[in-house]
Amino acid sequence: MTQLFHIKTFGCQMNKHDSDFISQVLLNKGYRQTDSIDDAHIILINTCAVREKAEEKALTFIGRLATLKRKKPYMITGVIGCVAQEKGAHLLKRFPYLDLVLGPRNVYHIDEFLYKIEKERKRISCLDLTCEFTSFSKYNGYLNGKVKSFLKIMEGCDNFCSYCIVPFVRGREISLPSEEIIDEAKYLVSQGIMEITLIGQNVNSYNVKNKALPTFSGLLKELDSIAGLKRIRFTTSHPKDISDELIGSFGELKGLCPHIHLPVQSGSDNMLRLMNRGYTRDKYIGLIERLRSTRPDIIITSDMIVGFPGETEEDFECNLSLIEEVKFDNIFSFKYSDRPGTKALQLPGRIGEKEKQRRLSILQERQREITLLKNKLLEGTIQEILVEGPGKIGDDQLTGRTLGNKVVNFSSKINLKGQLVKVNIIKGLQNSLLGEL
Ligand code: 5AD
Ligand code: SF4
Repeated sequence: MTQLFHIKTFGCQMNKHDSDFISQVLLNKGYRQTDSIDDAHIILINTCAVREKAEEKALTFIGRLATLKRKKPYMITGVIGCVAQEKGAHLLKRFPYLDLVLGPRNVYHIDEFLYKIEKERKRISCLDLTCEFTSFSKYNGYLNGKVKSFLKIMEGCDNFCSYCIVPFVRGREISLPSEEIIDEAKYLVSQGIMEITLIGQNVNSYNVKNKALPTFSGLLKELDSIAGLKRIRFTTSHPKDISDELIGSFGELKGLCPHIHLPVQSGSDNMLRLMNRGYTRDKYIGLIERLRSTRPDIIITSDMIVGFPGETEEDFECNLSLIEEVKFDNIFSFKYSDRPGTKALQLPGRIGEKEKQRRLSILQERQREITLLKNKLLEGTIQEILVEGPGKIGDDQLTGRTLGNKVVNFSSKINLKGQLVKVNIIKGLQNSLLGEL
């Protein structure tokens, strides 16, 4: 009987990519994927530990599996990703029906682990942070029909921002050799992929530890010369590692999309110092100015944390004045959340939950206005869209993204999936744009 598997994924693009990888490995082994946890023989939960709330969500989901496992004792259940790494074998103790706990650096051997569990009915935990990662292209099939794809170029983080758990759960930074990345990109293009997003915790510190190897900008240049690869994106980059060469790439490389996600985290120098970010507000604003003078149409998005320990009303006002000054196209903003093992845990000046929520609401409200304004500014412009497929609302609706990564919905009687089309923007909305072919 064909085994059915279900993967529930929480968290960032790295987790999504890991889940895609696992799905592909299992599909190639003859398993079939299902959306229903009731039908599944194997249930894997890919977890995020970046904030307490994300972690709680994952733990609640794991808790729900208890009844299911009683009904289907043959079922295999596994927790993978960042919470798995953080809590380790403790999860096996807390949830006696779990069979597998696997850190984010160990997903590459998922098939061997599942085989072992099936054959020996052993409970396994593997949390080795030194495992090398494999590229994706060796596993055929999964990309069928897709027009864009992620490509992981590095893993881990060495920055130790004082609030962040990532360096502890994804380990030290390693970069995939550029030849493998280029090979994989060529393979993706041969499968019909037109847009590649290079992913990693800090893509712009690619090979930063080894000066003899290609830099991130060098890698972008090589990728840009691949015939058929129409669009290149990357995420996430760290402001302290943005080189002049990288800024220059936005003016030089034809395939590099004019979008950068550049998390600032705070507009206050005091907070940036306590966060161990390695740059000042002025330095960040300088980067934005240089990016915009190199590529005036560049779309800039960011992340911000409010209520970091010691954040005064004045510091918070600096966040507001920063978004006012920079006018980001959008930001993801979060209430500071204590994370085990991080330096910020020892800082004085905890901000109460209510106050954090107040600050977050004010920040988000102001950003919503700026985002809408920015989207409205695009009305009347012509944008190139890579059509991804049918839109969510209405018949004959297609959806795709602009070069700057904004979602555009428009009507078309013909299916244009996988094509680059020119669309006139007729309305800028809060979360998307409305276009006309
Ligand atoms: N609390 C709140 N937000 C956090 N982030 C990372 N760690 C924390 C934390 N402890 C945010 C940062 C990062 C994004 C992915 O999550 O803004 O850029
Ligand atoms: Fe976390 Fe900072 Fe590394 Fe980003 S750069 S993953 S915020 S430690």
